Amino acid sequence: MHPTSAPFPTTRFRRLRASAALRDLTQEHRLSVKDFIWPVFIRAGENTVEPIASMPGVNRLSIDRVVEAARMADGLGIPAICLFPYTDTALKTEDCAEAWNPDNLTNRAIRAIKAAVPGIAVMTDIALDPYNINGHDGFVVEGRILNDETVEALVKMALAQADSGADILGPSDMMDGRIGAIRQALEAAGHRNVTILSYAAKYASAFYGPFRDAVGASGALKGDKKTYQMNPGNSDEALRLVARDLDEGADMVMVKPGMPYLDICRRVKDTFGVPTYAYQVSGEYAMLRGAALNGWIDAERSMLESLLAFKRAGCDGILTYFAPEAARLLNG
Ligand code: PBG
Repeated sequence: MHPTSAPFPTTRFRRLRASAALRDLTQEHRLSVKDFIWPVFIRAGENTVEPIASMPGVNRLSIDRVVEAARMADGLGIPAICLFPYTDTALKTEDCAEAWNPDNLTNRAIRAIKAAVPGIAVMTDIALDPYNINGHDGFVVEGRILNDETVEALVKMALAQADSGADILGPSDMMDGRIGAIRQALEAAGHRNVTILSYAAKYASAFYGPFRDAVGASGALKGDKKTYQMNPGNSDEALRLVARDLDEGADMVMVKPGMPYLDICRRVKDTFGVPTYAYQVSGEYAMLRGAALNGWIDAERSMLESLLAFKRAGCDGILTYFAPEAARLLNG
């Protein structure tokens, strides 16, 4: 398609902007409550709500409180919630065994939410970092991140989450070959309808800082994640990764972070036409929230505008910490 227009004054673009009714009628992209996946942080304890300093308004919740949050989200019409555990340092080891413990925080939270709020889809994270004494997404040996051994661990983690009732598995580790290995294991175990939303194009980004505080991984992390997460200077590579993950059995794909990578969202959607999601990550949330709290930008308008941008860039949905707040506004 190539846009044409007759010369002024035959064409006046301002005609279609002259009233709210005309603006509504001609709007190309819309944000809906149904676009949201809400990431939440879980912690041990009961009836506990613990604020996260670098993410004002976001808390770590004990499982009973997460169930309440899921009920609230379901009531708002949000289709999915995504769980991230804050793991006790005492449970972090080099072999990361807590990651596939059927009774770890995540697996208990999945079961509690599915029992109390069956209508909301539960998404999980598959990566070793919350359980790793080294803070990395994979096993570390002599400073190197092992690929194939990590994939074996991720498969165990995926099966434990699927057995607990997870609807959407989110491998966020960026090891090679993990989608194929997880998909095969799910099929072999009879988990035919468990979906995989692959963190396919995940960049080594500075915008994950507040998240690492939230899950207690910042202090632990030695070095950076550049040998497995993508180079921010690359774009074609994202398409190859998405193609690879789809071939291996991903049902949906993600671009992460979000706002600095809208060009990647658009390329992925145009190239593959598959369900495509962006993660508006912790640092993006912190920037918008921080500026709003300082009175430098309008909180509600900047939030909704940032989310609408993902729809315009071709995304089918957004993982966003703003989900309940945005949902309330959208629901009027
Ligand atoms: C860990 C993981 C990260 C995020 C989601 N899963 C952090 C990282 O890769 O270091 C980041 C989410 C956010 O910043 O909001 N595998």
